[in-house]
Amino acid sequence: MLNKDLIVGVCGAGAMGAGIAQVAAQAGHRVIVLDQFDDALGRGRDTLAKGLAALVKRGKIAESDANEISARCEWSLDVDALSDAGLIIEAIVENSEVKRALFQQIETVVSGDAVIATNTSSLSVTALASGHKNPGRYMGLHFFNPAPVMKLVEVVSGAETDAALAASALELMKSWGKTAVMARDVPGFIVNRVARPFYSEGWRALEEGAADAATIDFLYRDLAGFRMGPFELGDLIGHDINTAAAKSVYDAYFGRTRFTPSLMQAQLVAAGRLGRKSGRGVYSYEEKETPTPTFAASSGGQGDVLLLEDLLVKGWIDHHGVRIMKCDGRPAGRVAAEMKTPVAVLDFIRDPEAATAIAFAASNDKAKEAALSFAAACGKNAVALKDRAGLVVFRTLLQLANCAGDAVRDEVASPDAVDVAMMNGVNYPFGPIAWARGEGLGHVVDALDAVAEECGEAMYRPGEWLRAAARRGLL
Ligand code: NAI
Repeated sequence: MLNKDLIVGVCGAGAMGAGIAQVAAQAGHRVIVLDQFDDALGRGRDTLAKGLAALVKRGKIAESDANEISARCEWSLDVDALSDAGLIIEAIVENSEVKRALFQQIETVVSGDAVIATNTSSLSVTALASGHKNPGRYMGLHFFNPAPVMKLVEVVSGAETDAALAASALELMKSWGKTAVMARDVPGFIVNRVARPFYSEGWRALEEGAADAATIDFLYRDLAGFRMGPFELGDLIGHDINTAAAKSVYDAYFGRTRFTPSLMQAQLVAAGRLGRKSGRGVYSYEEKETPTPTFAASSGGQGDVLLLEDLLVKGWIDHHGVRIMKCDGRPAGRVAAEMKTPVAVLDFIRDPEAATAIAFAASNDKAKEAALSFAAACGKNAVALKDRAGLVVFRTLLQLANCAGDAVRDEVASPDAVDVAMMNGVNYPFGPIAWARGEGLGHVVDALDAVAEECGEAMYRPGEWLRAAARRGLL
């Protein structure tokens, strides 16, 4: 079993390998970092030195700690140096043949009970382990970038992974200060699978002209509390990387429509607009423009937020003869036709105090006037959206919950583990399943059905787990 005294071998001195080495050495292990290039080892050492210097500067560790931590790390070009390692974490190039060849070499030098883990993001742990001696000792330990900062580690069990070893690795990761969750070996594991709609729904809203990019980014932040919207985050990650991840998950699931990548993002990549690194992505970084949301009306912030709180509790209110309602999946035009009254539908608002805006779509001019007057009365800026099913942020959250529910149905992870993974792997302000429970699972299922019906697309149909969970809640 894995314990605090074991020697940790890290293969690959790149961004991930150097970060993982830091985490293991900080936890007190002797660490041996292997790379095939001397200059890569040099860069890895620099990455570690910078990481430790930043901790010293922030007062997190003493200079003497930093020295001890780096003294615990050895850097080697020779795979034989791994011979005493009890845990190997592989973080080399994302290529299954190269990884498998390295595992074969490692097996000839380590003891029979050394655990061999891969940090792969997109390859199958089961496939990487197969054909090796004792495949039960192979698993995924999926860290997030930068490894010393990001809390999450997905402990991934392949088809043959020894369950007790995976449990032991989970405890070891916790002892390293990580938030570790168990995950089954499926493409994207938990986070990279469940997160797909965060991006694709933003792109879809943009493609459909629901609002402009800066406004959509703003709404993700202001209404839901995400740290960044999908376009600013895509610009930061690089759209080539982001779209490759989306395509890899989509292809790996043989084209499951829930994971459909964005055409518009693919076009951006084809045009060389990769994001910050190329000077231009969704936004231009050459002109130093600051993306600003478009408001239909601005408020000085003076108003009565209780009006908004009241609406959110009741679900709808009458304002100047117009029904102003929380989004239930149906577009305003459809509700208006069904109820034979003017309607304005509000997008999701997580915290009525903190939100600086409300976003709405209106069934006609009278409804729009009423929504603007309501926003002013609440002291909020107003964003006028194109009328569409589920609007923008609510639809994204619905589909995130739907994908999270599918992951639970497929036994990728428990509901709590999915939430913990999303909050710690990609910094979501809340877990998608906890969000759905808070909204009411029945409401979420009905809203997804309404979006699916209105859009005519099966990808929005609520999955079996969500439906069953909603039913259980009603019993
Ligand atoms: P990187 O390109 O920065 O570093 C890879 C290192 O591995 C290089 O220094 C290279 O010289 C070395 N290497 C390649 N083949 C080798 C071999 N046969 N033996 C020894 N060393 C070898 O890559 P990065 O970004 O650190 O990614 C490494 C792994 O971590 C990949 O599997 C990637 O999918 C995964 N990962 C990456 C994340 C990221 O955001 N960069 C996040 C989570 C996982």
